[in-house]
Amino acid sequence: MENTVISASILSADLCDLGSEIGRAEKAGCKYIHFDVMDGMFVPNISYGIPVLGSVSKRTECVLDVHLMITDPIRYIKAFAENGADIITFHLEACSDAKAVIDEIHSCGKKAGISIKPGTPASALEPYLEFADMILIMTVEPGFGGQGFNYDMLDKISTVKTMLSERGYDVPIEVDGGINEVTAPLAKKAGAEILVAGSYLFNAPDMGTAVRKILDQ
Ligand code: DX5
Ligand code: ZN
Repeated sequence: MENTVISASILSADLCDLGSEIGRAEKAGCKYIHFDVMDGMFVPNISYGIPVLGSVSKRTECVLDVHLMITDPIRYIKAFAENGADIITFHLEACSDAKAVIDEIHSCGKKAGISIKPGTPASALEPYLEFADMILIMTVEPGFGGQGFNYDMLDKISTVKTMLSERGYDVPIEVDGGINEVTAPLAKKAGAEILVAGSYLFNAPDMGTAVRKILDQ
């Protein structure tokens, strides 16, 4: 059970009080901080970026799990790497040469995550599985917190899990979007090990209890 990791998405935190919000997530038992970067092009929203990551990295011992929802991500890999990212995840749909992006992330000494949107089939990941350090399966359309979990993605999680184990790759699957105490056990059962949670955690009356509810099921 405890091989599940929770990645707290600070998109739903009180951004005026980010330091203490991160402290709250750490104290509640989140091992990763999920940092959503949006450019208003790949997704219809704009969040925060490189200088904010630099400040966050000085305030936490958690793994910094950077989710790039930006067009042509190769342009900014080095900057995110130099500002504290541990895992850098990009969208397959946002670039023309995914292998080059993975190589750039690795050349910066960071872990490479590959993400797909709900409409992108699992098979699109196939050529890159051997190079990935993490696969992120979106369970909502990227761009906003607080959306409902897309249950059709459970089959996709299982499919990717099978693709990885058939090839003997020990690569964790992360899921992002609509994770709560109801959907977390389903995602875990399908094969996800890293669960991103934003609104469920930061809006909970007690974040520690919310984390336990996800981990203990
Ligand atoms: C959405 C982001 C998510 C978002 C998840 O595009 O990638 O990380 O913060 O929020 P919840 O957990 O509220 O669905
Ligand atoms: Zn995200």
